[in-house]
This record gives sequence, structure tokens and C-alpha cells, in this order.
Amino acid sequence: MPKVLADLPAMLVDHAHLERKAAASALNLEKYHDLFGRVEELNAIAIEELQHFQLVLGLLKRRGIPFGQPYPSPWIAGLMHAVRQGVRHSVIDHLICCSLIEGRSCEKFQRLANALQPVDADLAEFYADLVGSEGNHYATYWLMARQINEAEADQRLDFYLDLDAKLIRVPNPRPMLH
Ligand SMILES: [Fe+2]
Ligand SMILES: [Fe+2]
Repeated sequence: MPKVLADLPAMLVDHAHLERKAAASALNLEKYHDLFGRVEELNAIAIEELQHFQLVLGLLKRRGIPFGQPYPSPWIAGLMHAVRQGVRHSVIDHLICCSLIEGRSCEKFQRLANALQPVDADLAEFYADLVGSEGNHYATYWLMARQINEAEADQRLDFYLDLDAKLIRVPNPRPMLH
């Protein structure tokens, strides 16, 4: 958290890309047969993420921060790298990755809101307002995975939580959210 607070402009640019990628991820999930019936819900998430993206871009503009290049996230890349081949396997793994990324956003936004309260109340409020939405995305993706195959979703969640614990131990010096 201190490295993120020390470079708010870089963190905000990273956050903008995070919302862009979240919108793209929701649309990407629509390629799976098991999710054809959920296409409207996934569109709704993609629209919400695009609105978040727009909100962050507005914030950048108001603060005179130029939009810039994204940093690659070793944590997200590490999770996605473990998605197994095969359509049925992929969809559950992919949903669990998305769910963990959303859950992590939800948690980080709450921590940011608390940490920013004394130094930047506007930004603190901005982050506090996003917490509920990211929490809903986390729950929606997780329930979608469980609905496809409950036993497998539970088993893969255990696998991913172990992987997550390993990946977050790798130090990342950049001022990014994930
Ligand atoms: Fe979002
Ligand atoms: Fe989200």
C-alpha cells in the first residue's frame, strides 16, 4: 500500500487499464458454450467495467494525469497461465481467475479507500463507491463456475488459492493494484 500511495498518478493509470481489461474479460467469457445462456449478464458486467474505465479516465483528466501504458501484472499472468486446456476445463478455470481478480479488486479498493481517507478524501470516496460493484462481480463469476460443476469448481478454487498464495509472495516494486 505505501508504494501505491507514493505514486498515485501511476496507480490511477494502472487502475484505468485494470477496468479496461475487466471489460474485455467479461466479453471473452462469452465464447464458452456453458456461458451462452449468461451472455446478457456478462454484457452487463462488461458495460459496468467500461463505465468504471470512463470514471477513472475522467479522474485522470481532472487531475491532469496523462493516460499511459499498462504494466504487465505477474499475478494475473500467473493465474491465467494455469488455465487448463479443453473447453469444459477452461471455462471453470477462467471463471475462477476472473472471480479472484474481482475479489482482489474489491479488497484493494476497500483498503485504498481507508488509506486515502486522511490524505485525499475525494479519491477515498471514489474507491469506496467501487467496492460493492467489484464484490458483485466476484460473486457472480464464482456462482457461474459452481453452476457448471460444483465439485470441480470447489477443487479448482483450492488449487487457485494455493497458486495465489505463491504468486503474491513474489515482490513487485511497481505502484500497481494487482
Ligand atoms: Fe470495475
Ligand atoms: Fe469488476
